[in-house]
This record gives sequence, C-alpha cells and structure tokens, in this order.
Amino acid sequence: MSSKNSDQLHPLILDIGTSTFRMGWAGNDFPDIIAPSVYVDITDYLFSSDVIEGLEEIFINKEKIEDYLFGDKCLKYEHILKVHEFKKESNFNIFKKFFYYYYEQLNITLENRFKQPIIIITSFLMTDIEKAKLKDIFFSHFNFPELIFLSESQAIISTMQKSNGVIINIGESYTTISTILHGFINIIARDVFPIAGKELTNHFLNMILTGVGSRKNLYLDKWLAKEIKEKVSLCILDVKGEENRIKEGLTKYNQIINLPDGTSLEINSERFTLSEPLFDPKIIHVDYMGLAEATAKVIKIWERENWESLISNIILSGGTSLIPGLKERIKNELSHHFSEKMKDKINVIAVSGLENMAWIGGSILYSKDQLKKGWIKNPKINS
Ligand SMILES: Nc1ncnc2c1ncn2[C@@H]1O[C@H](COP(=O)(O)OP(=O)(O)OP(=O)(O)O)[C@@H](O)[C@H]1O
Ligand SMILES: [Mg+2]
Repeated sequence: MSSKNSDQLHPLILDIGTSTFRMGWAGNDFPDIIAPSVYVDITDYLFSSDVIEGLEEIFINKEKIEDYLFGDKCLKYEHILKVHEFKKESNFNIFKKFFYYYYEQLNITLENRFKQPIIIITSFLMTDIEKAKLKDIFFSHFNFPELIFLSESQAIISTMQKSNGVIINIGESYTTISTILHGFINIIARDVFPIAGKELTNHFLNMILTGVGSRKNLYLDKWLAKEIKEKVSLCILDVKGEENRIKEGLTKYNQIINLPDGTSLEINSERFTLSEPLFDPKIIHVDYMGLAEATAKVIKIWERENWESLISNIILSGGTSLIPGLKERIKNELSHHFSEKMKDKINVIAVSGLENMAWIGGSILYSKDQLKKGWIKNPKINS
C-alpha cells in the first residue's frame, strides 16, 4: 500500500465487478484491495431470533454499532445473515458506503483525502445511467477531482503488449467477447455470451442437489456451491468418454467435500460437467450457440485477411477463466470453425493473474502514460 504522501495523489483504479471489487493505486502491479462485492445488514437475519436465541447480541456487540458490514467481513456470517450483492441489486447507495469502507483502508492522510483521479474500468455493457450514477458518487458525493472510464478490452490487451486480438472475459454475471485490430475496437464485432460464473454455480448446485436425491438434510447454498466450484472445477475434452469411464469405475475425478455442518459429499463427473454450459448453453435451457462458435462468429465479422491476426491472440480473462483446461477446450472447439490452414494459428492465452487482468491493464496504461484522453473533470471543483 502506498505510504509516501506524493504517491497518494496517484490515480486509483477501480474494477467494480458483480463478484469482486478491485481497487488500488495506478502504477502498482496488483490491486491493493480485492474484496467480494457484497454487504450484509446486521439486522437482516436468515432466522428469526426466536429460532436462535441471542442472535442480535452476537452482532451488535461484536461489530460495534455499524448497520452494515462489507466485503470480506460479511462472508463469515453467510449462514446467519442475508448476504446481498450491491452490483447485482444496482444499489448505488450501498456502493457509496462500500467504497468508503475500502477507501479508508488505503490509509490516505487527511490532506490527500478525495484528491485522487479515479480510473473506472468498464465493460461495453456499462450503461450511461450507471456511468452517470458513478460520476455523481465520485464528484458530488465524495468530491474527487476527475475520473475516466476505461474500456476493459483496451486495458486487457495492453497487458499483452499487442494491438490485435480477441478478448474473452468470463466473470460472474457477464461474458463478453471483444475484438481489437490495430488498437481499434470494432463495436460490431463483439458479443455478450449469456453464460458466466453465476450460471455455472447454479448449474453445479442443481446437479448436486438432484444427485443427492433423498439426502434431504444436505446443507448447501449458492455461496457454498460457489466456493466448492472454485476449488474443484475442470474443463475436459472428452466429456462423454470420461462419463462412461466413471460409470465403469474410473475414480480419477472423485473428490470428497467436507461441508460446514460436519457431513461430506462425494463428487466426480460434476467437476467437469459444471463447465459444460459454456460450450452448450442448451444444457441449462439457454437458447444460444457455444462459446467457441460465438467467438468464431465475432472474428468472422472482420474481413478474412484479419482472421489470422485475431485467432493468434485470443486472451482469456475474468475469474471463470481460471477453470483448468478451459484454454485447451476453447482452442479445440475453435478449430472446428476454421480451415485446416488456419487451425494451426489458433492461440488461446491464459496467463497467471488473468482474474485481475483488466485492473492490471489499467495500471500498465497509466504507467506508460497512455491514459491522456477521456478524463472528465469534476464540474464542482473546476467551475
Ligand atoms: N478457480 C475458479 N474456478 C472456477 N470459477 C472461478 C474460479 N475462481 C473464480 N471463479 C469464478 O469467477 C467469477 C468471478 O470472476 P470475476 O472476478 O472476473 O467477476 P467480476 O468481475 O466480479 O464479475 P463481472 O465482470 O461479471 O461483473 C465467479 O463466478 C467465481 O465463482
Ligand atoms: Mg469483471
């Protein structure tokens, strides 16, 4: 974290995801703060206090008199309090408090408070209303001097030091496919793919709950399913084959999950079938083509002479891209959509740290002095 006073006037980069909030000083290698985009209201119990006696006292006493808890602080109460996701709820009032809570953790001296320029990473899905709300928060409420909205794809491609490529960003709520050629984004050659981390978590949870059938006492919710998913998920090439081998006794994928209530759960094929909706959305009743086909379609919007520059630089980013084997599977499936000659050129890149890539890209662009245009000044300060 920044300590020198002058460093505290560097811009702050924010990537406000539906699952993860990332914030840190421009120029750093890594976000200083990575926190779940969640909050709890400490009076909003999942159970009433007549079910569990003394519930209120636990929180009021322990967490002082705050009304809400944010980010990391809430997840330990996930089985007692209702955990809310402010981005999914479009709850900007809570976002204000959430931001302030983490801003305080940067230990900025009094004279430097609210003096930083703000860089906000945006996907092409961010609406003008959302941008206006964020401007209002950072300008009118906090009084920061200036801000810039930085395209996620521009930021991500800069981490590769390339000016051509395809960016597949698979997060929690959104999967976006964008293309950049000679540094320019083609707003026609892009797509919003309808499956991301949230859908995979739900699919995983459904598979387990149907699989256990009569075991009615199994305690498993969305938060737990998400946590387990992140530990066990895989993506493989031969799904049918491995499913058959499991039926014949293959134990390679077996994993025992210890649940918080003391029971355990054994899973095997669910580990790889959980990622299958990415390649066939119809599995979860979404009428869309698979991710590789959608990517090929986006590439083919460009003239044929550009295809090679694009397929040789397909960059994976976002938390869901952490699924082991995803890169190989996308490459394999993409090859069905291009000629023999082109197939060899397909290159799918999954670097370590890809879940923070948009943030890191913003930091790189700032360090290279490439964030000159597009700043919006706070009218209250500059009038
Ligand atoms: N190891 C892992 N395996 C599978 N999924 C993972 C893994 N790690 C994280 N994820 C998933 O990645 C998603 C979060 O990714 P990311 O942080 O990129 O999302 P976000 O930026 O907050 O969301 P969005 O951009 O969609 O608003 C969650 O669904 C999470 O479960
Ligand atoms: Mg994101």
